[in-house]
Amino acid sequence: MGNDSSGGELKVHAFADGAAYARQIARRLEVGFAPIKLHRFPDGESLVRVAPSAGRHAVLVRTLSDPNSKIFDTLLAADALRHAGANRVSLIAPYLAYMRQDKVFHRGEPISQRVIGRLLGEAFDSVLTMEPHLHRVKSLGEVIPCEASTVAVASAVARWVKREARRCVVVGPDGESRKFVEAIARAAEAEWIVGEKTRYGDRRVKIDFPRIPGVKHAVIVDDIASSGVTLAAAVRELRSHRIEPVDAVVVHALFAPGAMTLIRRAGARRVVSCDTIAHPTNAIKTASLFAEALR
Ligand code: R5P
Repeated sequence: MGNDSSGGELKVHAFADGAAYARQIARRLEVGFAPIKLHRFPDGESLVRVAPSAGRHAVLVRTLSDPNSKIFDTLLAADALRHAGANRVSLIAPYLAYMRQDKVFHRGEPISQRVIGRLLGEAFDSVLTMEPHLHRVKSLGEVIPCEASTVAVASAVARWVKREARRCVVVGPDGESRKFVEAIARAAEAEWIVGEKTRYGDRRVKIDFPRIPGVKHAVIVDDIASSGVTLAAAVRELRSHRIEPVDAVVVHALFAPGAMTLIRRAGARRVVSCDTIAHPTNAIKTASLFAEALR
């Protein structure tokens, strides 16, 4: 059994849906792994059961895609881990949902980011996540009131770009992606541009790019692909500038039904993702980045 930085016994825990990813983290850290059992009662309530001995520092690994069903079980598991002996409970959420609703966009709406942040901050001593779409706040600590930090994935994406797309231009679909795109392009020693995106609804966006003469190969990078309309619009627009081939790399592969078809129909050559959410497009491994951060 390994030790955390404060000298306590460390154990990694996960529900069945994230066991493979969590095991990679445990292996890297050379610490124990324990599965969490989940029972659904006929009325829909959940009962979670963690290992009887949680370790003094219990690390729960759970990606929070499909969040409405997962967040509550995750909070129950945090409580169970404390009752099973943990005096420190950490959450590694490779994907953290509800981060995009970070202000009242229209009167009558909540700031969902803060609501989820408060719940997690109360349940966990620390939270680690990756590229959580923080655009109007400086740090995750402002959102989650505990030791909250983010793990950067730009270097891993840059390695893919360098290996698979030499001499490409790295493209961000909108101004919000600027920092991420710049970090990847710098590390991959590539040129970069960002577009201007206007969203008209969940499934309607328009993207304009500046003129980029002489570019042949583009790799669009984005933090999230959900409906797929952002990537599809970016691919179409770049191809209308006679840029070909166009590849796309996303961190969090939410890919709602129909998203991949939309992106492929727009003419994307390759669509790849990081493995923060299990998906057939996963090509960039991220578990070791969390292990390093935890170490
Ligand atoms: C938005 O600002 C994000 O960075 C993504 O571009 C967006 O969430 C992608 O969503 P969709 O695939 O539904 O266009």
